[in-house]
Amino acid sequence: MSVIELRGIKREYRMEVRQGAPSEDGEEAVVVRALRGVDFSAEAGEFVSVMGPSGSGKSTLMNILGCLDKPTAGTYTLDNIETSRSNSDTFAYIRNRKIGFVFQSFNLLARTTALENVELPLFYRRREKNETRHTTQSRKDRAMRALREVGLEQRVDHFPSQLSGGQQQRVAIARAMVNDPAFILADEPTGNLDTGMTLEIMGLFQELNRQGKTIIMVTHEPEVAAYTKRIITLRDGELVSDVQVTDRRNALNDLANWKKDHSLLAENT
Ligand SMILES: Nc1ncnc2c1ncn2[C@@H]1O[C@H](COP(=O)(O)OP(=O)(O)O)[C@@H](O)[C@H]1O
Ligand SMILES: [Mg+2]
Repeated sequence: MSVIELRGIKREYRMEVRQGAPSEDGEEAVVVRALRGVDFSAEAGEFVSVMGPSGSGKSTLMNILGCLDKPTAGTYTLDNIETSRSNSDTFAYIRNRKIGFVFQSFNLLARTTALENVELPLFYRRREKNETRHTTQSRKDRAMRALREVGLEQRVDHFPSQLSGGQQQRVAIARAMVNDPAFILADEPTGNLDTGMTLEIMGLFQELNRQGKTIIMVTHEPEVAAYTKRIITLRDGELVSDVQVTDRRNALNDLANWKKDHSLLAENT
């Protein structure tokens, strides 16, 4: 059963052209075809990179996958829900409960501890039928569990400014997982991190994926995509390639080697 199924997805932006006299049929419009009919599906447990040059439609595709935007044409089925036909309440519900977002810039609240940042999605959570209300304690327990899964149980009372970039991104990943979403949607999650932290975060994603989490990640770095299982490439709004990664790299092995090289360098200087 596919978690994600996109069929014939198009997204067109109409740009009104206001300079000069209007033409006979009123205002002129330029249509930008950001996505031109994309078919894509992903099963539970996949780890997919979305690649492609700037302007190829990656952000547009991410916005549609994340239920932040609706396509002009085509259908998007997420976890058996046909999202394109849902009303705005259902659309928001799907976004909050089915998708865990991870951003390049972490997007943590500055005056809020790691634990409180991770608890946040649980406050916004609308209850499903027969679901009991979350108590303060159960929220805290769930957030603690998520922070433990990303290896930050020792840092729960730290504020973002007291954490490294890699640790902040771990908090963001814990926050993305706390609602147990259908998949994690990550937009250039290592874009602001140095090599060591990038390898740490990719190691964490590989471990979460090994435990069964489904991850879709935009990246423009082939070295980062090499840690995922499948790479799709967009060009001019079309999906032009879809390949399984044959010899996938292991991020934690690469991290260990990188650390070894680094300490050797430090000793030699
Ligand atoms: N809000 C918008 N209005 C008009 N055109 C847009 C808008 N967003 C994106 N585009 C256009 O759609 C195309 C795809 O953009 P985008 O999805 O941001 O690509 P990428 O993320 O791969 O760089 C580009 O030509 C871009 O200029
Ligand atoms: Mg973009």
